[in-house]
Amino acid sequence: MKIQSRYLKLGVGTGEPKVMTLSMDGTPTYSFKLDYKPEAPEFYMYADLHPWMGKNLSAEYCGVEITELILTEEPKNDIGEDMRPLVHFTSPWGWHNDPNGLSFYNGKYRLFYQHNPFGEQWGNMHWGYAESEDLVKWSWVKDALYPDNLDATMFSGSAVVDAHNTAGFGKDAHVLIYTCADNREPGFTQNLAWSTDGLNYQKYEGNPVIRNLAQGNRDPKVIWHEKSGKWILALYLIGEEYAIFTSENLKDWTEIQRLTFPNANECPDFFPLVTPEGDEKWVFWEAGNKYLLGDFDGNRFVFDDVEREVSPREASPRLYAAQTFYNEPKGRRIILFWETIQFEGAPFTSQMSVPCVLSLVRDEEGILKLKASLVEEYTDRMTTLTEGLPIWFESDLQNPVEVDGHIFRAVNGGIAVDDKVYKAKSTKVSVLIDRMSAEIFADDGTMIHLFEGKFELFGEVKGAEKAHSIKL
Ligand code: FRU
Repeated sequence: MKIQSRYLKLGVGTGEPKVMTLSMDGTPTYSFKLDYKPEAPEFYMYADLHPWMGKNLSAEYCGVEITELILTEEPKNDIGEDMRPLVHFTSPWGWHNDPNGLSFYNGKYRLFYQHNPFGEQWGNMHWGYAESEDLVKWSWVKDALYPDNLDATMFSGSAVVDAHNTAGFGKDAHVLIYTCADNREPGFTQNLAWSTDGLNYQKYEGNPVIRNLAQGNRDPKVIWHEKSGKWILALYLIGEEYAIFTSENLKDWTEIQRLTFPNANECPDFFPLVTPEGDEKWVFWEAGNKYLLGDFDGNRFVFDDVEREVSPREASPRLYAAQTFYNEPKGRRIILFWETIQFEGAPFTSQMSVPCVLSLVRDEEGILKLKASLVEEYTDRMTTLTEGLPIWFESDLQNPVEVDGHIFRAVNGGIAVDDKVYKAKSTKVSVLIDRMSAEIFADDGTMIHLFEGKFELFGEVKGAEKAHSIKL
């Protein structure tokens, strides 16, 4: 069948995934695993076939040819849409986890993410891709990076804009730095893909740019360091080990440091901020929301050993694997977290957090801490009335606040929503409520908690000092 519409519609179940292979003009080209159930689908998943438009498509599942293939322009399911968050990004279909390649490029914010287009479980990792002009509304673009093969999928990574054409892909090329998670030889490696239009990405033919250094090494995060005129890359190695590399061209990397980060895991981020006194401090971040603060001169990161975290990892549901944007036009350090919210029965999983600006503040003991504040794109849209979701409210919880049957109140050692207790020093909170979650900014934004709960029949916010709807 000639591919004239972009998506292959696949009825799936939630059983054990097995191999499907798509052939283009007779050549086996694209393999993935899914529980294909065309007769009794629980929902539909979609293969994004944009790279193969006009080719002749055939497909096999478990080695048997599929005779009926359905192509469509609309990757739609009608179930679960009433749960879909209004401002938190969700994948149009399929599983998603970490944000990847967060960047501002060609006038738009770019959000790539770990995507399984073939089920609502983790697997078949692709880089899904969405864009936004205002950080409030996101629109799906496409699957941008496909697995190299069944055993070599696309794990997390970052994106930069190569303003000086150091890599030779073109001035201002958008370069993605990702892990190819190859379960066979040569193991997990770090790789590049690039684009000069923000739409078509091609893998660099000289990949990998960093060979396998430790089993499972992954999640490269790159930043340009103006003072040394070099790229800096932070990489997760294994256990509690990370490494820092430098490069002049994004292609040749030199390891400059290994560091042990107690109780840390996966997804590093590494970036400078300014202290309240006006000094530069570097933040080394890990997936579980712990961070180190220190000094970096382009050659060595020297850090102190104070335990800091923005959101405790034990808290469930969790915020995890956050990443900050590269090239933010206003110079803000904006962060997005992966939030493991469940959408029971829906063909999509998880949401991204709302974008927050990170800054450094001192607490009452004078200790430097990261603070997260909702971006002004949201605060600018706050109305004077509460006219529906999403809602923002502020309260010191001297009296309980009730929203749609959920009670926010002060308890010993912190705050509680219904029967869930969250650690906080003060009971003064700001809260953002969407359809299936409430993000609670406590202790002046130095602690974030996530409450999972349904907010559907929004009526009014009872007991809050301030409450606003966010106009979409
Ligand atoms: C974090 C993580 C990363 C990895 C990715 C795979 O959630 O485990 O370390 O690159 O997810 O999807």
